[in-house]
Amino acid sequence: MVTYSQVKASNALITEATAPRVSIFVGGTSGVGNYTVRALVSTGASVRVYIVGRKSSEARTRAFIEELHSINSKADVVWIGGEVSLLAEVTRVCGIIKEKESRIDLLFLTTGYAPVGVREDTAEGIEITQTLEYYSRMLFIVQLLPLLREAENPRVISVLGGGLERTSSIILDDMELRKPSNFGPFNGQIHCSAMNTVFMDRLAREHPEITFFHSWPGWVNTGNVNRGYEPNSKWAWFVWLFLERIIELFGFSHEESGQRYLFQCTSAAYGGQGTPWNGKTGVNTMNETGKGLFLVNNKCDCTPNSKVVAELRQKAEGKVWNYTQEILKRYL
Ligand SMILES: NC(=O)c1ccc[n+]([C@@H]2O[C@H](COP(=O)([O-])OP(=O)(O)OC[C@H]3O[C@@H](n4cnc5c(N)ncnc54)[C@H](OP(=O)(O)O)[C@@H]3O)[C@@H](O)[C@H]2O)c1
Repeated sequence: MVTYSQVKASNALITEATAPRVSIFVGGTSGVGNYTVRALVSTGASVRVYIVGRKSSEARTRAFIEELHSINSKADVVWIGGEVSLLAEVTRVCGIIKEKESRIDLLFLTTGYAPVGVREDTAEGIEITQTLEYYSRMLFIVQLLPLLREAENPRVISVLGGGLERTSSIILDDMELRKPSNFGPFNGQIHCSAMNTVFMDRLAREHPEITFFHSWPGWVNTGNVNRGYEPNSKWAWFVWLFLERIIELFGFSHEESGQRYLFQCTSAAYGGQGTPWNGKTGVNTMNETGKGLFLVNNKCDCTPNSKVVAELRQKAEGKVWNYTQEILKRYL
């Protein structure tokens, strides 16, 4: 376990050289992404941060950006409006970023929630939680790979359920969970989570110059469990009476969550470059040190899950890769 004191001590050592100079936060409008933006800007380093978000979050995010500029006048925090549940919008937003930047040091992805309500497909025909937690995130990565490759220590962090995947997590004969018996909060989360791992594991092998993370945040009371359900449903009562209270009681504070993710964004514990680290060196999904895909848990430990990932590589990678490419290619 990386203790919170170790996390804070490491983050206190972040310099102009180790802070990501250009970062893209998709999901920085609330929750873990938002807390991480705050932690990053609060280092005082000269960073440029793009926060991508939907129209309904623009006003409060612009107020947040003003606050960030008063915390760190050297930070340049930029709002980009985009409805990222639509893949065409992801492509448009990436076009804006490509016009403005020639390199990206950090791509931080946190959009989404569990499918606790009735199925809702976007105008593009993909179920919304799967788009937010998987297809939209992977499209951002694929579109921005050329800019990531230009950075010295590029990192991609997808926050969902890294390390929790099992060999049976992906429903290979129903990739979009169209059968009602396959659709639901539990199946939806573990399916999308394992898809993140499998797709990024392949990207990490194809792009060894980039460090990829699929990370599990643990419990953080962000309001995430309040998304996507019908008022007065059984789930609504379960959340109100039980789940939210448990998360509040046992989860990480917003501050600690942001600091833990800033650690993942900057520490040499993963991949060898970044803020010097004297603790245990992180091991990737190939059970190796160096770059690759790191599955990181809520304590910032690497949980390579290498036996499971090796089996998923054999059993699921081809299908996941081809299926995903078929969808993404319409927007590339
Ligand atoms: N929090 C936890 O305890 C926990 C535990 C395990 C896994 N996770 C997973 O980790 C990820 C990050 O969690 P979090 O708690 O930070 O999430 P969050 O705060 O609830 O939401 C993260 C982002 O998703 C965006 N989003 C939600 N619905 C959207 C929609 N329909 N269209 C466009 N954007 C939408 C939000 O935008 P707006 O600000 O515009 O709403 C926000 O920027 C999520 O996938 C979550 O399921 C969370």
